[in-house]
Amino acid sequence: MSGPSSYVPNNGVMRWLDARLPLPRLLYDSFVAFPVPRNLSYAYTFGGILALFLAIQILTGVVLAMHYAANSGIAFQSVESIVRDVNWGWLLRYMHANGASFFFIAVYLHIFRGLYYGSYKAPREIMWILGVVIFLLMMATAFMGYVLPWGQMSFWGATVITGFFTAFPGIGGPIQTLLLGGFAVDNATLNRFFSLHYLLPFMIAGVVILHIWALHVVGQTNPTGVEIKSSKDTVPFTPHATIKDGFAMVVFLVFFAYFVFYMPNYMGHPDNYIPANPLQTPAHIVPEWYFLPFYAMLRAITFNIGPIDSKLGGVLVMFGSIIILFFLPWLDTSRVRSTAYRPIYKIFFWVFAANAVVLGWLGSRPAEGIYPLLSLVGTIYYFAHFLIVLPVLGLVETPKKLPNSITEAVLAKRGATRGLPAGAAASPETKG
Ligand code: HEM
Repeated sequence: MSGPSSYVPNNGVMRWLDARLPLPRLLYDSFVAFPVPRNLSYAYTFGGILALFLAIQILTGVVLAMHYAANSGIAFQSVESIVRDVNWGWLLRYMHANGASFFFIAVYLHIFRGLYYGSYKAPREIMWILGVVIFLLMMATAFMGYVLPWGQMSFWGATVITGFFTAFPGIGGPIQTLLLGGFAVDNATLNRFFSLHYLLPFMIAGVVILHIWALHVVGQTNPTGVEIKSSKDTVPFTPHATIKDGFAMVVFLVFFAYFVFYMPNYMGHPDNYIPANPLQTPAHIVPEWYFLPFYAMLRAITFNIGPIDSKLGGVLVMFGSIIILFFLPWLDTSRVRSTAYRPIYKIFFWVFAANAVVLGWLGSRPAEGIYPLLSLVGTIYYFAHFLIVLPVLGLVETPKKLPNSITEAVLAKRGATRGLPAGAAASPETKG
């Protein structure tokens, strides 16, 4: 897909540089001449939006770190002082805090796009696996970042999550002590988390480079799921994809700005404006919204399973719900990539998406009454989707007829909107 380079340096300086470090050539081939399918929809713009948000998080984070004090005695006040005293500090903080939420909105849409269009299927397995690694790193980064303001939810969230490790017999306790830097969440924990919270985004950036490198080797999918067959099926990345990505970024940034400027604390928890108090447990300890489906699965296991007690069971189910994503390319047995051509799977896809949203809601409810049972049903369905629906349906479903090429699909669609028969629209004479 990356193919031979078409870059021609247009002046002496570029010729000189190209012979020594062909960086402009790399950028030109990757972001100007790179052929992308001509039918990419807006669903394909979230990768670019994610790259933008990674940059926003790193830039605002580095400046916040100049004013933040990673000491449990003054961390809370230092964040308040950033908002009140530091020039533009309020903007930095609210961009960073809401940026994390918008980063997760974009990553969930990006992942669900991948699930819908079968982006994880051969030859894009490595792209997908790198994506799951990024997702795990994002979760670790967000979790540690939430501890830094040292509010009540920071403290108690950290206590609950690091407590998971004790579920593992033998090694669990020592791992927890190592992570905390002691036997409870304290100043040493805050220092560790700050250090790691600063480090991990750069690791994410490294994995993103591999992710995009792999993309340039295998090329992008498209809504039909049919691979590129000729140059007629593609358009150059610039201007086509750059304009589309740019427009999508602006729209996404408008929503982001609305939150930053008009409701900056909407996605936060009020308890995090109370300084951490190890002697007072909040009534309900809830994680940030983007962790809620996983939190629901953790709490769904309220019973022992043979030798595995309920706590370990919950932890294994929660980690398993992400680990299973690594195996997705091999669990889906369908030869057809795009859900658009799989009428039965399409229904299951939307049921899966609805189940994920319901699990999120259940994660925000207290673990009492009917909620643990509903969470268990949702958890079973989550796993059944990967372990039963995907492998079995791929073998038994009869997909719709695929177009012979991307171009044929585009022209047929164009013809349909003009009231032409599909055959006529797809013929070369009716082009344009
Ligand atoms: C910081 C996070 C991420 C960044 C910056 C990023 C970036 C990108 C970009 C620029 C693309 C090409 C444009 C597009 O298709 O949207 C892409 C495609 C893709 N990404 Fe990501 N990504 C991230 C996270 C993830 C995650 C978490 C997953 C999966 C778990 C994932 C899986 C994929 C796959 C499979 C493709 C190929 C899509 C296709 O051609 O159908 N990415 N990514």
